[in-house]
Amino acid sequence: MVGIYLSGTGNTKHCLERFLSLLDPGAELIAIESSAASAAIGGNDEIVLAYPTQFSNIPYMVRDFIRNNGDAWKGKKVFCMTTMGLFSGDGTGCAARLLKKYGASVSGGLQLLMPDAVCDSKLLKKSVEENKRIVAAADRRLEKAAEEIRSEGKYPREGLGFAAHLAGLFGQRLWFYGKTADYCKKVKISDDCVGCGSCVKNCPMENLSIKDGKAVSAGRCTMCYRCVSQCPKKAVTILGNRVYEQCRYEKYVPEPADKL
Ligand SMILES: Cc1cc2nc3c(=O)[nH]c(=O)nc-3n(C[C@H](O)[C@H](O)[C@H](O)COP(=O)(O)O)c2cc1C
Repeated sequence: MVGIYLSGTGNTKHCLERFLSLLDPGAELIAIESSAASAAIGGNDEIVLAYPTQFSNIPYMVRDFIRNNGDAWKGKKVFCMTTMGLFSGDGTGCAARLLKKYGASVSGGLQLLMPDAVCDSKLLKKSVEENKRIVAAADRRLEKAAEEIRSEGKYPREGLGFAAHLAGLFGQRLWFYGKTADYCKKVKISDDCVGCGSCVKNCPMENLSIKDGKAVSAGRCTMCYRCVSQCPKKAVTILGNRVYEQCRYEKYVPEPADKL
């Protein structure tokens, strides 16, 4: 088994790490931007594909990854995992339908509530304590799902049914489809940028570079928010115009009491 993931602020990486450590401790975790990710599909019969929900849809980079490896999915057993800040509808189903088109069989789906990653919007922002409790609850759900798979061979099917499809479509996708229909060209770099290159190093799309001492975007952003959440000068925004809170999983590691 192998886990392949896209993660901007670390939520999805954490969930996948936790899931695999319970299900198959030897399983490798590979970032989608790594050159090893495509080869990992060919070398494994069972794959967990994990990514953040964006507007009840798949991030464009994940869609491209599925398409670009079209033939490699044939006969593979894929479990889809998505993390979300509030509502995902059929966040797993969107990838599952595409994977099935390429001949994969989808073994299950898990949609996990995690802290919101949109650093340049006030919407959905919670206190650090609340976010710690949210992470602890996600951990419990991961433990339960892994236990049911291991002991009963029972896979969760969250986001894969018809009702979830309707919820995702009418809840968000119809109104926000344009946001995930292509790579985003809206990355903004403010005058506070000092050209340190943190965003360049972190971008999974190699979309950012330094020109004349400042970061510039090439218009191929998958909206993972890694650059926004890690810029030391808070100089990068995407959907909003100001960084309210830099969100990163490490801030929300639950206290032992949250785990009860
Ligand atoms: C551009 C964008 C769009 C998002 N859209 C949704 C959404 O439609 N529903 C939702 O529940 N969360 C949404 N979120 C929140 C993320 O899915 C959530 O915070 C996720 O856990 C981030 O995972 P990561 O840290 O692995 O990137 C969105 C986040 C971003 C950056």
